[in-house]
Amino acid sequence: MKAIDIRNKYLKFFEKYGHKVIPSAPLVPENDSSVLFTTAGMQPLVPYLLGEKHPEGRRIVDYQKCLRTVDIDEVGDNRHLTFFEMLGNWSLGDYFKEDAIKMSYEFLTKELKIPVEKIFVTCFKGDDDAPCDETSERIWKQVGIPKEHIYFFGKENNWWIAGEEGPCGPDTEMFYDTGKPACGEECDPSCDCGKYVEIWNNVFMEYYKQKDGTYEKLKQQNVDTGLGLERINMLLQGKETPYDTEIFKPIMDKLIELQKIDNISSRRIIAEHLRSSMMMICDGVRPSNMDRGYVLRRLIRRMTRHLNKLQINLENLEELIKLNVEILEEMYPELEHNKEVIEQVILEEKNKFIKTLQHGERELEKAIERTKKENKDKIDGNIVFKLYDTYGFPPELTNDLAKEKGLKIDMKEFEKLYKEHQDKSRAGAEQKFKGGLADQNEKTIEYHTATHLLHKALQIVLGEHAKQKGSNITEERLRFDFSHPQKVTKEELEEVEKIVNEQIQKGLEVTCKEMTIEEAKKDGATGLFEEKYGEKVKVYSIGEFSKEICGGPHVTNTKNMGTFKIKKEEASSSGVRRIKAVLIK
Ligand code: SER
Repeated sequence: MKAIDIRNKYLKFFEKYGHKVIPSAPLVPENDSSVLFTTAGMQPLVPYLLGEKHPEGRRIVDYQKCLRTVDIDEVGDNRHLTFFEMLGNWSLGDYFKEDAIKMSYEFLTKELKIPVEKIFVTCFKGDDDAPCDETSERIWKQVGIPKEHIYFFGKENNWWIAGEEGPCGPDTEMFYDTGKPACGEECDPSCDCGKYVEIWNNVFMEYYKQKDGTYEKLKQQNVDTGLGLERINMLLQGKETPYDTEIFKPIMDKLIELQKIDNISSRRIIAEHLRSSMMMICDGVRPSNMDRGYVLRRLIRRMTRHLNKLQINLENLEELIKLNVEILEEMYPELEHNKEVIEQVILEEKNKFIKTLQHGERELEKAIERTKKENKDKIDGNIVFKLYDTYGFPPELTNDLAKEKGLKIDMKEFEKLYKEHQDKSRAGAEQKFKGGLADQNEKTIEYHTATHLLHKALQIVLGEHAKQKGSNITEERLRFDFSHPQKVTKEELEEVEKIVNEQIQKGLEVTCKEMTIEEAKKDGATGLFEEKYGEKVKVYSIGEFSKEICGGPHVTNTKNMGTFKIKKEEASSSGVRRIKAVLIK
């Protein structure tokens, strides 16, 4: 069985139990979210977990492309991936613990044919916020999991929430016993020695954690499950790492063929980052020095660096990209549709990086001279860090080059600076995630509606080509990226502002209709990322002015939104402009 077969089995199984299949949402979250990337299957479904009606009903099954950047630096080991796929079945106020657990058990044992002896489960042990999950324990026993295979843990293991605030709840997790010997007497599913591997998580989302840290019951009881596809695929094939499965193997083999120096960790980094970069480019990300673009830049540069490390001629990159399209297109047909742009973006960024490396080398030569002049034997840690951070020089490379000149590097100081930097970017990533899920209040809802008005106004003033490329909303402002080849003039911006304010003042009703994509298109609705949607979609109309496919939520009438003011217009990436705007009351 391959990963795609597992995905198809999963979708079919849950379809049989009344779930509607929805395709993956893009990696870049749409509309009102300040999250960098979709990091879990639940993210695109947050409004529905909070009680909004999903056009496809209350039972959903999906496969979601996810990207997690927190562990970027761990990639190269035997398990961390930045891009991965999460299979999920969803009850939006429909079934709860009993059905969820029974279906999970049936899928694992009957469809995937995992022997029950290999399955271990964990449940929430209870605390002041929520009781011990005896219900899950009872159902696990009832389906056939022996008592000794059921463990209880606290919030640190058996509670799921994205960030600090948002929908959450106790979870029950399923583990696969690899059969490796226990690492000690204490070894249990919470141990990460590798004996027990987590395969699936059923979150019973019935709470909302508020800003002040207290929990409130949600309007409905939901089930959010997540099954990591690469991981289960690896286990079912009896492989040690995802790199040994069909998803990565052909690229790994090709790298062995091309390399002059052997390093398994470098090969993994290249294979992993190549796949992630390609998926990101497919979903519209372009290299830049900010946010998503910066993540993509780092991935491509890190991959290039490791190609250098293996002494693989960079001319081979084109062939590696083509090979990866072939390997992955069955799972992600969008790769085949976007292969030209993927190739162009990666090769361009690689060329830019080569230039940077040359600058870095010059910088390093100067530092070497200085160090020698000062009669020191070590290059300062902050220079090593600067070379790493600005020019992408790994400290090992700096060390090698310094050694050739009879010098060492101050690794201790480098590590200190590196750690500080990492803590900062982690805090940043968490902050971003938090923002995205928490931002469903009156203010952000107004900004969301303002975004639709702005989109339409831009198309009136600049032309139909001015299409949404991205959007980000906080309580303070909206940010909107759209395609347009040149700077928007002051007069054009004034015109856009005027049109948006006229519509706000008209007090337009905002209405929502559910329809099929075909009906929506016929109706003249604009839609982003159309292939992401399931068969039925929501179309939000603002009076007669704007009509967009969108998940909502929106204000019911524009009249109290205040005055719309554009604060800034700038380039976002090539061919894409960015507007920041506020609503003043
Ligand atoms: N939200 C949970 C997770 O990401 C289950 O899907 O693990």
